[in-house]
Amino acid sequence: MINGLSEMLLCLTFLVLYGFMESQSAQLQVFGPDDYLVAVAGKDLVLPCYIKPSTSVVEMTVRWLKQETKHMLVHLYKDHEDRNEDQAQSYRRRTSLFTEELQKGNASLRLSDLRVSDEGEYTCFIEDESWSDDITFYVTVNALGSHPVIMMESYDNSGGIHLLCESRGWKPEPEVLWLDREGDILPAEDTQIHRDTEGFNVKRSITVHDNSNHNRFYCRLLQEDHMRETEIIINRKVFGAWKWVVGISVLACLIAVGWIITAVILHKKEKQRQKVEYILSDKKKFAELQSRSIEDDLAKMKKFAVDVILDPDTANPFLILSADGKQVTDGDEWQNLPDTPQRFTKHPDVVGKQSFSSGRFYYEVQVRGKTEWDLGVVRENINRKGEIILRPQNGFWTVGLRNENQYKAFAGPSVPLTLREKVEKVGVFVDYEEGLVSFYDVNSRSHIYSFTGQTFTEKLYPFFSPCDNDGGKNSAPLIISPVFNTE
Ligand SMILES: *[C@@H]1O[C@H](CO)[C@@H](O)[C@H](O)[C@H]1NC(C)=O
Repeated sequence: MINGLSEMLLCLTFLVLYGFMESQSAQLQVFGPDDYLVAVAGKDLVLPCYIKPSTSVVEMTVRWLKQETKHMLVHLYKDHEDRNEDQAQSYRRRTSLFTEELQKGNASLRLSDLRVSDEGEYTCFIEDESWSDDITFYVTVNALGSHPVIMMESYDNSGGIHLLCESRGWKPEPEVLWLDREGDILPAEDTQIHRDTEGFNVKRSITVHDNSNHNRFYCRLLQEDHMRETEIIINRKVFGAWKWVVGISVLACLIAVGWIITAVILHKKEKQRQKVEYILSDKKKFAELQSRSIEDDLAKMKKFAVDVILDPDTANPFLILSADGKQVTDGDEWQNLPDTPQRFTKHPDVVGKQSFSSGRFYYEVQVRGKTEWDLGVVRENINRKGEIILRPQNGFWTVGLRNENQYKAFAGPSVPLTLREKVEKVGVFVDYEEGLVSFYDVNSRSHIYSFTGQTFTEKLYPFFSPCDNDGGKNSAPLIISPVFNTE
């Protein structure tokens, strides 16, 4: 019996309490502005939101949202602090609540540095465990656009000048007017309007003619009671200059046509294969054709094949030459040899016995199994004793391999070469009078590199460097191989 009574009392207390809370919550309501807000871009704006009767929102959750295609989080206050991890990127560091006002039930939001893209519907949503309410209102953002810029675009064929006035970032869109110095509106082309996220961009063109000594024109943009204006003054002489401009344009056209004709003639003179290159876009066919044409070239060059033999009197004492003078490798051991002027003593280099001071010549060198090598031709008077920098300026026209796969043309500065395959045999072709030194990959029949337009005045010697032995890694010899004429 006593138990039953106390249970009933407890129950009653809850009912009363619940009823009290319910009635308090029922009275609470969120308020905002009575109408939509109009704000100005660049300024700050307070978005009003508060509860009545005045009750602290310190313990509550305040959520500011913007209605886009979906809700965008503008600001979140929860558990006594701002929780803006999920805030929309465009509102970063631009929102704040008024901390002191929260206890008065004021959850207004300050939004700073307004943009036209901030325009839209905002919702202020306040809730605690037992109650929630919200208010939604619209914010319009107006913007005063940039100062108009006037561009002199062109002359028309009656001596008028075409002017374009342009300005960006207006909201709402402005009226664009062209005026003369008396303030009279001039007839102009239609205004072009283009809208983007930051407002309206406007353009309006006019063609003006010379009519006084002071040709002043104004481009004026009007938006409600705002105005922006730019002036342009055109000197009389400028109006007169159009004839010159036309003259110069005609001349420029004639020169261009001349160029084109020359180019066409030159182009026609080019070899048949280059024509084919243009026609065939198919890469494989192209590569095939190219190697076929290089094959032709190689076949021609092979007619100039010479029998090169290494000159032991020039070989660096580290180098080991075969008895027939066709092979060379770095033996990694200094041999006691007479230090004659023609002997390379610093680098592991050697030249051929034959020299050339005219005509064309060709030879092939096997480089298979090597990680480094240099090949080419050199002038007679090159430095054989000291530090050598391989470059045409120093009398070396060479290409080489470094670190197993880095092919280079030592063109001073050196040029990295991208080759399709590892080179096993190099063909060297020289045309003394043409100033040409070309290198070919004999097996894949592709071109490696060419020095062109060189001037040779001295004897040229075939040049070989098997490079450092590198502890046996680069011990494979360079081999001057016999040239088989495939024809
Ligand atoms: C809320 O706080 C803001 C900022 O201090 C103030 O401008 C606004 O008048 C306040 N609103 C109310 C209803 O007190």
